[in-house]
Amino acid sequence: MKIAIINGPNLNLLGKREPGIYGNESFDSCLEKLKVNFSSVEFVYFQSNVEGELVNAIQQYGFSVDGIVINPAAYTHTSIAIGDAIAAVKASVVEVHISNLHSREEFRKHSYVSAVVNGSIIGLGLMGYELAVRWLIDQTR
Ligand code: DQA
Repeated sequence: MKIAIINGPNLNLLGKREPGIYGNESFDSCLEKLKVNFSSVEFVYFQSNVEGELVNAIQQYGFSVDGIVINPAAYTHTSIAIGDAIAAVKASVVEVHISNLHSREEFRKHSYVSAVVNGSIIGLGLMGYELAVRWLIDQTR
């Protein structure tokens, strides 16, 4: 089983970025744990700060992997293009947000992604990625 994890802008700074909101763990560390805990899964990881590169990655992986876990970060709230790309591909897609968008600023409450994904995991920290992977694995059983 192959799963692509796609992270949007500023998520390369996890561990250093606003630790009170996003915690102290880097994404590299989170990814290592996922690889250990789900050793039968082949993971592809892509992070970009550029909207079009995220669209390209969704198109590139969306027809070849079994599932995508995506955190579009700030583009969640602005990008029709990322929503359209998710709607266009074949893979199951889970949206993850580390922080609870609904307890933050008003502009974070709207997602252009939520309506086109299979489901969303919001506010459970980096564990959200693990839960998303578990769900995707369960779908292939
Ligand atoms: C985020 C929430 C977004 O509003 C924010 O712009 C991010 C990260 C999260 O994972 O909580 O960069 O997607």
